[in-house]
Amino acid sequence: QQPDPCSFVIFGVTGDLAHRLVIPALYNLAAADLLPDKFCVVGVARKGMTSDQLRDSLMKGLRQFATRAVDDAIAERLLACVTCVEADPKEPETFDAMSRQLDALEAARQTGGNRLFYLATPPNAFLPISRELGRTGMLAENGAWRRLVVEKPFGTDLASAKALNSELLKLVEEHQIYRIDHYLGKETVQNILVLRFANGMFEPIWNRNHIDHIQITVDEKLGVGHRGSFYDATGALRDMVPNHLFQLLSLVTMEPPVKFDAHSVRSEKAEVLSAIQTQTEQEALQNSVRGQYRGGRIGDTEIDDYRKTLDVAPGSTTETYAALKLTIDNWRWAGVPFYLRTGKALGVKRTEIAIKFKQAPFAMFRDTPVDRLSQNYLIISTEPTEGIALQFNTKVPGPNINIDGVEMKFRYKDYFKAEPSTGYETLIYDCMIGDNILFQRADSVEAGWQAVQPFLDAWKKAGGKGLKVYEPGSEGPEEANDLLERDGRSWRKLG
Ligand code: BG6
Repeated sequence: QQPDPCSFVIFGVTGDLAHRLVIPALYNLAAADLLPDKFCVVGVARKGMTSDQLRDSLMKGLRQFATRAVDDAIAERLLACVTCVEADPKEPETFDAMSRQLDALEAARQTGGNRLFYLATPPNAFLPISRELGRTGMLAENGAWRRLVVEKPFGTDLASAKALNSELLKLVEEHQIYRIDHYLGKETVQNILVLRFANGMFEPIWNRNHIDHIQITVDEKLGVGHRGSFYDATGALRDMVPNHLFQLLSLVTMEPPVKFDAHSVRSEKAEVLSAIQTQTEQEALQNSVRGQYRGGRIGDTEIDDYRKTLDVAPGSTTETYAALKLTIDNWRWAGVPFYLRTGKALGVKRTEIAIKFKQAPFAMFRDTPVDRLSQNYLIISTEPTEGIALQFNTKVPGPNINIDGVEMKFRYKDYFKAEPSTGYETLIYDCMIGDNILFQRADSVEAGWQAVQPFLDAWKKAGGKGLKVYEPGSEGPEEANDLLERDGRSWRKLG
């Protein structure tokens, strides 16, 4: 399906996100012939930048960040539709001028007035820009569609997310807002629904009767690098959990939607997220571990002590690692614990959901240690490999009954030859065709913050007390093991 003719307006077009991801993704869509014939890109930049200068800068970005060899003809055709305009919320008249420019441009390009406003800006600009777009009538849908795309972070806690939603919803309707979580652009993440709902064999065992617990791990090898100022005000919990980890959690735990459409899927996701038990601050402290990395080496790479990172406060108590235990209060998941962990400067980059099944009811093989019999995992991973693995026990060849765990593996790259992509292509394409199935709805965002709020509050009160230190290249603070060990469980080792 080719999207409707439209204008693709990018605020923050001179920034990293636009150069690194948005334009390379548009290029890949152009190469796949998935952009509308009548199309224009409008970049909103600072005063004085010309369209030629913007095109040069985007071309440089494309050469650096394209996921495949750049075909000059396609790149030039794409960049030929780029126009630079100026608009600054502090100078409202610039938005009036922009509105007139867009009208003229759209008449020339015959885009029919459909507009997508992509806010690739720092979050404090979301509202001022949206308000100006609203004031000048640019968000009004009069026979043409108008959409607003916002990047994360969406709020910094429950109160700010609610306030942002309520302000935006004064300007546009929910169906016009596309809240991006780039995890939903990942193939393996989208595949979770297919795995669960296009295969008859998993449904009967996908519940508390057969699942012992679920672990979600998003470990990163890189430290905070040059993002000190953003990260020190944010921390691992805010940066990763209510968005990326909860996307994974909701896809794995939601009820089957009645239809595969945005309303049904997003309603089920919101429903399960709102069933995450809201803990008291006391419970949140008991059910969490937070850590901060010290200086050291990971292989040949030198990692600075977090507190010595550029733009990080010397005595910072911001966590770079978080592990949580949560429960979901509903029929399917009552009594099943969910262990989530994420951190920076760890030994490997690993993103996985490990579903651990209950042990066989009777230990017939008496000589086999019980922990051997309880190694039934289904593992859905995006890093280090994209795929699915099933771990089960098997008899070791020989005259005695010896049991060991083996793995059956499906790796995407063995079956499908996908062109390398930025991960933004599907998301951008869906914004253009008006399918918001892969975007977060206001209620999900708020339910996510609601669940992490007690942890944020409890950690803020505790300050440096309870913040554990860990070595770069490790698996995080030792104490994260206790979170499971006290329940008679352990984190899955990378195998
Ligand atoms: C971003 C976070 O949203 O996701 C980063 O702000 C993090 O801190 C990144 O590194 C992880 O994304 P991915 O796709 O590499 O797992």
